Amino acid sequence: MKDEIRICNNISENENGELMFAGVNTLELAKKYGTPLYVMDENRIREKCSAFRDAIAENFGDKGRILYASKACSFKRMYEIVGSEGLLIDVVSVGEIYTAVRAGFNMENAFFHSNNKTDSDIRYAIENKVGHFVVDNAEELDALNRIAPEYGIKQKIILRITPGIDPHTFEAVATGKVDSKFGSAIETGQAEEITAHALRMENLILEGFHCHVGSELFEAPVFIDTARIMLEFVADIKRSLGYSADFLDLGGGFGVKYIASQPTLDIKKTIGEIADFSKKYCKELGIEMPIVGFEPGRAIVADSGLTLYSVGTLKTIPGYKTYVSVDGGMTDNIRYALYKAEYTLAAAGRLNEKPDMKCSVVGKCCESGDIIQENILLPSSISRGDILACFTTGAYHYSMASNYNRIPRPAVVMIADKKDYVAVKRETLADITSLDI
Ligand code: LLP
Repeated sequence: MKDEIRICNNISENENGELMFAGVNTLELAKKYGTPLYVMDENRIREKCSAFRDAIAENFGDKGRILYASKACSFKRMYEIVGSEGLLIDVVSVGEIYTAVRAGFNMENAFFHSNNKTDSDIRYAIENKVGHFVVDNAEELDALNRIAPEYGIKQKIILRITPGIDPHTFEAVATGKVDSKFGSAIETGQAEEITAHALRMENLILEGFHCHVGSELFEAPVFIDTARIMLEFVADIKRSLGYSADFLDLGGGFGVKYIASQPTLDIKKTIGEIADFSKKYCKELGIEMPIVGFEPGRAIVADSGLTLYSVGTLKTIPGYKTYVSVDGGMTDNIRYALYKAEYTLAAAGRLNEKPDMKCSVVGKCCESGDIIQENILLPSSISRGDILACFTTGAYHYSMASNYNRIPRPAVVMIADKKDYVAVKRETLADITSLDI
């Protein structure tokens, strides 16, 4: 097997050149469950949960929290797994709350995000005993303060703050992320205003602050920059409003390797560096170290997943390119169409053959932008009926899947200790019309 393909240690090859994932033959999975198929490695998910949990325990002791950003991959079994691993969760909609509740997740451990919570969203979350609201704006503060007493509660909240970080330049910038639909910016004074506003709300308990600066971050400096700005804000607020934040959630964004040339993020080292800096800086600022939280989504699930497709039509346009069509597409993977996201693909039954044919892998949707990946190399022997694997599809694939062209969404098959089981059933044609009158 080429090193380019072995991007995660759950990917291997058997003696016949067939792709194994989490110790199971992918060709057999494709035969048993059909394609397209999402396959997920439960052991890897648990490994990542404990990597974060151990890193936080080692560096922050009992003053650290890990929240799984469940938008990355949300279905009942996921909440059961992360719950059993002792993680908290971030939920952003009533749909995610409903799913977590149905999975038996302890909702006291849930943080409810969203920049636009309707009154009915707020009521639903309170009725389902969501532990914390991550309040985005002043209007939401007022609504929550008005609704909470209807339930005889004082609601715990943290405030979403915009630190003004552009994660791609790794420095605080004057505009950039300040111009965002999320949160209240420190730079414009709105962060302090909303804190003062929250402290006046008699039905809310302010526990601290939250921020999230971006995704696919591979190095500690951007997290440290974020921690520096947020801790300075905590110190400023203590000085100006006499309020000491108990909790500081620094968001998610831990990067994941999709292609061989990308680095592998060292979770332990990165969290260690953030912790060392934060402890030192809190002393300098003369503030007590708040409980620090992180919200990884992608880093928990991305490399626990792959998608299996069956190859269909092959089309060579002389002088242009070869198209390899698969039986899925933008309905199960919208990320190339949205972000030109890079992926590693492999012909699951031909790992011992040279990938010598340049081609683009496209889906079956009626749209030219329905592309999984352009200009990659696959064996020239690839033909109709072959199984093609697209790696690192555990995050933002099932959760962003659609029914465009009335294509049913694939099943999710989980592998635990080399045994496969269905976590989410394949949608049927009957499901497709189930809501039609
Ligand atoms: N916390 C907050 C408040 C977030 O908005 C996000 C992601 C996360 C945590 C988790 O970030 P992660 O660790 O997964 O990078 N659909 C895009 C990703 C959108 C991320 C939105 N927020 C994609 O497919 O790459």
